[in-house]
Formats: sequence, structure tokens, C-alpha cells
Amino acid sequence: MFGRKVFGLVALATGVASAPAKRQAPSGVPDYVLKYAPVVYLHGQDPYMPSDLNTHLSHTTPEVNFNAVFAPNPLDINSLNQLGGDVYLTSNDDITTNPEWLKGVRPDGNGKTEGTTAAVIVNDKGDGTVDAFYMYFYTYNWGGEVLGLSSLNFGNHVGDWEHTMVRFSNGNPEYVWYSQHANGQAFKYSVTEKYSDNLRPIAYSANGSHANYAITGTHDHTIPNFNLPGGVLEDHTAKDIFWDPLQSSLFYKYDAGANSFTAYDGTSPVNWLSFTGRWGDEEYPTSDKRQVKIFGQAKYSSGPTGPEDKQLNRSNVCPDNGNDCILRGILVPRSVELDAKVFAEDVVQR
Ligand SMILES: *[C@@H]1O[C@H](CO)[C@@H](O)[C@H](O)[C@H]1NC(C)=O
Ligand SMILES: *[C@@H]1O[C@H](CO)[C@@H](O)[C@H](O)[C@H]1NC(C)=O
Repeated sequence: MFGRKVFGLVALATGVASAPAKRQAPSGVPDYVLKYAPVVYLHGQDPYMPSDLNTHLSHTTPEVNFNAVFAPNPLDINSLNQLGGDVYLTSNDDITTNPEWLKGVRPDGNGKTEGTTAAVIVNDKGDGTVDAFYMYFYTYNWGGEVLGLSSLNFGNHVGDWEHTMVRFSNGNPEYVWYSQHANGQAFKYSVTEKYSDNLRPIAYSANGSHANYAITGTHDHTIPNFNLPGGVLEDHTAKDIFWDPLQSSLFYKYDAGANSFTAYDGTSPVNWLSFTGRWGDEEYPTSDKRQVKIFGQAKYSSGPTGPEDKQLNRSNVCPDNGNDCILRGILVPRSVELDAKVFAEDVVQR
């Protein structure tokens, strides 16, 4: 990382080092994990930006079956592992009032968000293959509207973990995974759109749902187990707001054998990664007047589990979900028809 060293020297020489500058990645993080880390473009109409983990936690109460349970004080990423796997971190506010903290933190002109909004988790498989997971956190997921009708707005939830993953082979980026709802898409690194440095792939975060796409535009998506014709539920991505998650990340090494995490800097909190509960409210029952349920789809669904639950030791580039893992060799949008097609440029992992 020649460029980084130069920056460090210049900063030292001019005394800039004490300024509230960029958070630098700790030493020990493989340089290719930083060099090829995806950058994210957020949608300009998205009110729900990335969120600082501790700010999120400070607005929640641990609940089980809608009843408050023991909560450490303060509840933060140092104490989160004291909670059980049955816990839902439940909003202290009625989320239908759209409180400010749901909106997270907007990146500044350099793409930096205040606080810790992301985590990088590296799984070195020991055979030259390294999977680097770039985890992105948002406090609120707005699920979108079927046919664009506000009366058919489903899948909103508190807490939203999304990720991209770059698979490296001997330090070379080979494939990029983009998480989208229950599944996602994988592309050869070589065909992905790159940031201005021609190295870092771009992930476009969809308005509200924060599903990650390789291209801008409109993307059909389906609700799992809910067959809708193409086009009725769409994600929208655009090259609007630049976010560089690396500047607000914590960095961890993952040991698959022990299912354990180590902070590269030796000091960042680690135990929050072993919290197996949910990062948001439990799906409200239909007796709750905020809830709407049509065709089995809830307007407010349950919050997600955290990074540990994203198949960090997956063997294919895609998580194992029963589908073939198509590694696209051309940039294609997501659609019901295209999803079933395999092109000559693609590689299929079974
Ligand atoms: C983006 O999401 C907001 C609600 O969060 C919605 O009002 C707006 O219409 C959406 N825009 C697009 C282009 O999807
Ligand atoms: C992790 O994945 C590799 C294959 O990629 C496999 O050989 C290994 O057994 C897995 N480890 C665990 C603990 O599941």
C-alpha cells in the first residue's frame, strides 16, 4: 500500500495526524482487502442512511415475546453478548412516527459516516482463498411498495444488515457477491463497475431496502414464497450519494473452525459479533394497530440477525440456499426471466 504509506508520512510531517482524519485500517489487514474493498452509492431519495451501531443500540430495549428482559447498562457493542439469542432489540419509539435516529448518518463529502456503520470480516481459508465480507448496517429497512401503491407497503423492519463479499485467490480479486433480500447476485470482479481508482468495485444500495446491486436502475425482486409477476415489486439504485464504508469500519479476522472473531487492532469490541438475536423489533401481531397483513405478507416484519449468520464459511461465492450459484461474466440486471438464464461468460458453482 504505497499510497497509504505516503499519506502517513505527509500527515506526520505536517502535523495533520492529530486532526479528526480518516479512520485508518489497522495493520495486519491484508492490503488487498482494503485495495479492492467495494464502495457504495446510496440512493438520493433514501431517507434511511447507514447507522452507527451504538446509536442504534441506545434507542432499543431487549425484548422477548414483546416483554422487556434484562439489559446491560449501557447497551452497546461491548455489552451486547450478554443478551440471549431469543432477544429482539426493540425500538423505544413507535417507528410509525419515523424518529430521526431511524435515518442514520449521511456520508460527508469524502464518503465518511460518523461512528461505526460497517464491519470488515476476513475468512482466510488457508489454501490461497480469502473471503472478505464487507458488512453494512442501517437502522431501518423500508420494504418498498407492490405496484407502487403506498397501501401495499410490506417488509419494513428495524435493523438492516447487508453485505458484499469479495473472494480473493492468492491476493487477486476473483468474484464479488452482492446481498439482495433473501438471496443476491455474484459477478466476476473483472466485469464489475469500478470506482475512479479502477480498483474498487461499486455496489449500489437500493432505495429503502439497501439490497446491493452491481448496476444502477430498476431491479425486479420477489418476496420469498410469494409469487408475484415481474415488475410489481422493484428496487431502485442510482449513483447519488458516495459512501466509503472502510472509513467507518471495524476490522476482524474470522476463524471458521472455532467460529470466533479477532479484532485486527487488538482493542475493538469483538463479542457483539456473537450476539445471535435480532437487531430490530419482532414482527408485530395483527392485533397491533400498526400491522397490516395481506396475502401473508406483513407490513412490519422482524429485524434480522447479525453478521455471524451470513454463512461466513460458505464454500461457493453465494450462500448455500439450494440454488445454483451463477457467477456472472456480464453485467445483467435482476429480473425473473434473466435469473434463470446462464450465459456463455458465466461460471456456475453447484
Ligand atoms: C424511495 O423511498 C422513499 C421512502 O423511503 C419513497 O418515498 C420514494 O418514493 C422512493 N423513491 C424511489 C425512486 O423508489
Ligand atoms: C469451512 O469451509 C471449508 C470449505 O470451504 C471446509 O473445508 C471447512 O470444513 C469449513 N469449516 C467449518 C468449521 O465448517
